[in-house]
Amino acid sequence: MKLARKDILGIRDLAVEEINLILDTAESFIEVSTREIKKVPTLRGVTVMNLFYEPSTRTRTSFEIAAKRLSADTINISTATSSVVKGETFIDTAKNLEAMNPDIIVLRHSAAGAPHMLSRVVRQSVINAGDGAHEHPTQALLDMMTIREKKKRIAGLKVSIVGDIAHSRVARSNIYGLTKMGAKVTVGGPSTMMPRFIDRLGVEVHHHVDDAIRDADIIMMLRIQTERQDMSVFPSLREYANLFGLNRKRVALAKEDVIIMHPGPMNRGVEISPDVADGPYSVILDQVTNGVAVRMALLYLLSGGN
Ligand code: CP
Repeated sequence: MKLARKDILGIRDLAVEEINLILDTAESFIEVSTREIKKVPTLRGVTVMNLFYEPSTRTRTSFEIAAKRLSADTINISTATSSVVKGETFIDTAKNLEAMNPDIIVLRHSAAGAPHMLSRVVRQSVINAGDGAHEHPTQALLDMMTIREKKKRIAGLKVSIVGDIAHSRVARSNIYGLTKMGAKVTVGGPSTMMPRFIDRLGVEVHHHVDDAIRDADIIMMLRIQTERQDMSVFPSLREYANLFGLNRKRVALAKEDVIIMHPGPMNRGVEISPDVADGPYSVILDQVTNGVAVRMALLYLLSGGN
């Protein structure tokens, strides 16, 4: 089966069959990263441009590693060192990059919808690496891959997503993906961090973290995004940690074999205590490892692989 689409812009418009195809393909790529020589010639001659208007550690690096492991050429453009600082518009930047004839452009941008706009003005494939508070599809795919790896299924599991739901593109993409795949998704967080009408996305809503995580198979903690908050939505980080932070006592409310996830970067001691982040239930670094395989799968499938 081929992925019959030009771009990966969001989970919302992916079909279950497409998600399964991407996850199956990603699983088949895990092995490449364990070889002594971590490289296959699959995408020789393909050029991948990483265009990041926002900081990133995991996403940008794993796209670069993924491309290199498939023998593609990679170019990293950080706006801080590009002509964007001289005032070049987003569309002009896009058209100039298109003129150099890459095959795939990976875009992170603070504006929701920027990858959709890019996909309309360039002929290359576009992958959304996070657009504002809208979607982060590759993160949700690596999260679903990690859940499938650890639990052998997604359907029927209770997944509790806790924290700043309103500002979280990770939450939005995971809600779209996990509900499509048959999981029971619960969201928890202060009412000031909960989008209106969130229940219309088919999730259960709680404002007390203990209620949100009770009997959970998976707890997904979200980062407090101070950079996206234009008003004070909680009195202090200390109070947030007390009321909504995940600590060992709270983990005990979930299932005995719960797994703890976090997309990173973490605010240790705020949304998650260090002993939980580094503890036996944590799969946070497995998520990062799977991120390489998922991005290899996407580059491969968008290049016409099957
Ligand atoms: N999870 C995630 O998107 O991390 P980065 O911001 O480091 O890419």
